[in-house]
Amino acid sequence: MYQTIKAASRAIKSPEATVCLHFSNSRGLDKADKAYDKSVRGALSDALKTRKECTGAAGEATVVYTGSGKKATRTIILGLGASGQVNADVVRRAFGSLASPLHAMAVKRVTVRASAGICEALGDEPFARAVGEGLGLGAFRFDDFKATIKNGKGSGPTALTASVERSDGSGVANDGLSHGLNLAESANFARRLAATPPNVATTTHIAACAQDLAKQSGGTMKCKVIKGKALEDKGLVGLINVGKASENPPCMIELTYEPKSAGVKGCCDGTVLLVGKTICYDTGGLSLKISNGMKGMKYDKNGGMAVLGAMHAVSTWLKPCCRIVALLPAAENSISDEAYRPDDILTYLNGVTVEVTNTDAEGRLVLADGLAYGCKVHKPTAIIDMATLTGGVVVALGQAYAGYWCDDATLRGRVEQAGETAGERVWRLPLTEPYRDMMKSQHADIWNSAPVRHAHPIQGAAFLSYFVDSGIPWAHIDIAGTSATDKPRPPFEAGPTGFGVRLLANLFESWCTERD
Ligand code: BES
Ligand code: MN
Ligand code: ZN
Repeated sequence: MYQTIKAASRAIKSPEATVCLHFSNSRGLDKADKAYDKSVRGALSDALKTRKECTGAAGEATVVYTGSGKKATRTIILGLGASGQVNADVVRRAFGSLASPLHAMAVKRVTVRASAGICEALGDEPFARAVGEGLGLGAFRFDDFKATIKNGKGSGPTALTASVERSDGSGVANDGLSHGLNLAESANFARRLAATPPNVATTTHIAACAQDLAKQSGGTMKCKVIKGKALEDKGLVGLINVGKASENPPCMIELTYEPKSAGVKGCCDGTVLLVGKTICYDTGGLSLKISNGMKGMKYDKNGGMAVLGAMHAVSTWLKPCCRIVALLPAAENSISDEAYRPDDILTYLNGVTVEVTNTDAEGRLVLADGLAYGCKVHKPTAIIDMATLTGGVVVALGQAYAGYWCDDATLRGRVEQAGETAGERVWRLPLTEPYRDMMKSQHADIWNSAPVRHAHPIQGAAFLSYFVDSGIPWAHIDIAGTSATDKPRPPFEAGPTGFGVRLLANLFESWCTERD
């Protein structure tokens, strides 16, 4: 598969493939496509007439060979469904599915003809952006551990250059394309780490990756790793306890992005705090997960990976003008004679005491460290946390929406819009006093899980609310159902989706973007 995909700086002269868009309800070729049809001696209109499989259904790709000898080339007729229903999701899916056949045809340069129809429906740059996201996300393969049986790696070209050209010949939309490819690259960075198995992607490994990322930023982003005795000094009791039973030591990874324009008038002041649950493996601890409940728990770090992917976007290409601090509380929830136990009571750095009732509700214990520490040290103006927090959110919402909680209307508008643009959607659930009351314990202030199965995802949000300083706009996003997929779901292969990376990147883009 392609390792790199980039946008051409101008129109590509002799692409090995040209993609023409086809709507299922189209009534023949438009003026520009007629001209193109002429240049390929009617091959396009012939195919549309004679090939019955060419219906325009979304994602359907029909390959037509045009020209001959050295001038041999391909025209790919790509279905986008009905023109009235086309949107960025449809485009991302269709181009996501196209990455593999393009590679199989050894295509190194591809031109996408943006027809008048798609320019009217989406706009040329937003269309090109979705093309870039689709191609980039669709070309991701996790084959790092394929060694002797090279069924995943194979041969073929490693680089693809793409261009989106308005079919009327009036120019390219490659800024959008490039933006989409960047978004996909940051998401794929998160997906790769998310897929890395727990014997490799340990707490220490993730910390080293964060440090590498900071090094690549040219000084705009710094990384600090709090571990060992420093965890005790700072009172990060959730991490210490959840991580106690593992030989991989827990740590708090802190990335600080400081824009060049910090403090410049007219730019946003204040600090946005991101917190991502980074449980490198979740066995459940002494409240051990049973039967098939443990397989796949390498994905319990995906909240942290989403935040790390967002910081990849922020520091390598997005460069927004707000200060952003990312905290990744990283631990492995394991078992040993040193494990923390149900009945233990922990005293947090904000004074809140927590009775552990279930060691499998560990994510909220480490997130609480991130939230309380982040509030105390960074005095943020907004907080967003991402976590694979509960199985209950998968039961409630499945894979189409992440569960989310946010009582601030302005932040809510931003998060929902950013998610909609990314196709990473969030559905709000309530967080009112009755739910906060459910978390009150007899022997401590609160417990980490109430002894009833009611409203598990909301219990998680209610628990976290005790660690956010009052008055700070805060959004909690439970991505347990959306961060990985067990079956291929274009543009994603089976495995991690990077859910949250593009949402956060879009959020910072709309919030305030400084590009030089
Ligand atoms: N990591 C799990 C949540 C999870 C489950 C993520 C399935 C992805 C797929 C989390 O730590 C957990 O175990 N949650 C418990 C909470 C309960 C004990 C209150 C759950 O959801 O069962
Ligand atoms: Mn758990
Ligand atoms: Zn977990």
